[in-house]
Amino acid sequence: MRLDKFFSSTGTLSRSECQKALKCCRIAVNGEIVKKGDFKVDPEADVVTLDGNKIIYRKFTYIVVNKPEGVVSATEDSRDKTVIDLLPDNLRKLNLFPCGRLDKDTLGLVILTDDGISAHNALSPKRHVEKKYLFRTADSVSDDDVMAIENGIMLSDGYVTKPCKIEMLGKDEGYIYLTEGKYHEIKRMFGARKNKIVYLERIKFSEIEIGDIDRGEWRFMTDEEINIFTQKNGV
Ligand code: URA
Repeated sequence: MRLDKFFSSTGTLSRSECQKALKCCRIAVNGEIVKKGDFKVDPEADVVTLDGNKIIYRKFTYIVVNKPEGVVSATEDSRDKTVIDLLPDNLRKLNLFPCGRLDKDTLGLVILTDDGISAHNALSPKRHVEKKYLFRTADSVSDDDVMAIENGIMLSDGYVTKPCKIEMLGKDEGYIYLTEGKYHEIKRMFGARKNKIVYLERIKFSEIEIGDIDRGEWRFMTDEEINIFTQKNGV
């Protein structure tokens, strides 16, 4: 792998930042200063350092984006902007895909990765990975509505949802915690109670939080989050 690709794929330096760092003799491979971006490294075997600090190579990339309204959770779309379009060029080349989908009008946390196995596991109904959403409804939500949805509610197609948790913040807004992800699930749950979701935002996926990522922006997952996502910390 080229040295500049190694840096961009680890998220440490973009290609142009890597060029500058190479010129300033800040990069070494196995203890030798390297000055060329096309220098070939074996990411599993070679020790690459930036200013003397070892760069940990990861086979896969893990990113958290804050999806704006109107953007689709897909890798490509002929009409709409996708969550992949929110990334810079060097990351768009990496074959990342969204781990699960949010509706076009739902905002918030989407995980992008090229680690198919971990994404599959994180979405598996057997794992019961919890997702937290902030919602707002058109009409007031009663205690009966909360109880009916929390216990599992029958949707229009006859599917009965898994039990979930709701924490009301006011008469028409709150948090809902789901461990499954059926098509339009939250909208259909409230629809089954003759109410309508007017705002929906995912703010947490397992222990990974949207935090202060601005709408439309992204960040790399931290090492701790990667361990959670890849189940090294037991999602
Ligand atoms: N439930 C919905 O209805 N929509 C989403 O985007 C996510 C969960």
